[in-house]
Amino acid sequence: MTRLLFVCLGNICRSPTAHGVMQKKVEELGLDWIHVDSAGTAAYHVGKKPDSRTLAEASKAGYDLSRLTARQVKESDFYEYDYIFAMDSENFRNLKALRPVGSKASLHLALEFTDVDGTDVPDPYYGGASGFRDVLNLCEMLCDDILKMISEGNMRA
Ligand code: 4NP
Repeated sequence: MTRLLFVCLGNICRSPTAHGVMQKKVEELGLDWIHVDSAGTAAYHVGKKPDSRTLAEASKAGYDLSRLTARQVKESDFYEYDYIFAMDSENFRNLKALRPVGSKASLHLALEFTDVDGTDVPDPYYGGASGFRDVLNLCEMLCDDILKMISEGNMRA
């Protein structure tokens, strides 16, 4: 099993989108050796469903995120997941600081393998609908690129 964890701040907008998009791709491609999850570095929204704007945008594109529930990232994640993908550089920095010495998870920026300007999937929370559409588009791209890297065995540890 190869285990992937997407992490943003609240786990109600960006990382659940990446989670749902990756889950669907993995199912469609029959990649049952890949397990996907998501979490937030902050605890504000623990136990909540994804933001209604995230659910709406995903639903329009054919993804059902309604069964996802926010949780906070925890120390054991760094031992249980093979790859942890931060949705932006601030969460990347916070994850690096949380990572226990000797844990196995390989920590990356989610956009590291994607040919776009910038390193971050922008936080859409305080903006309008177009930000949520941008998140979905970026997640579709980055999930394809991550799957390609993993299946080709090119992901560095
Ligand atoms: P996310 O978006 O990190 O993509 O889930 C946010 C959700 C909530 C907040 C900020 C960003 N907040 O400040 O509550």
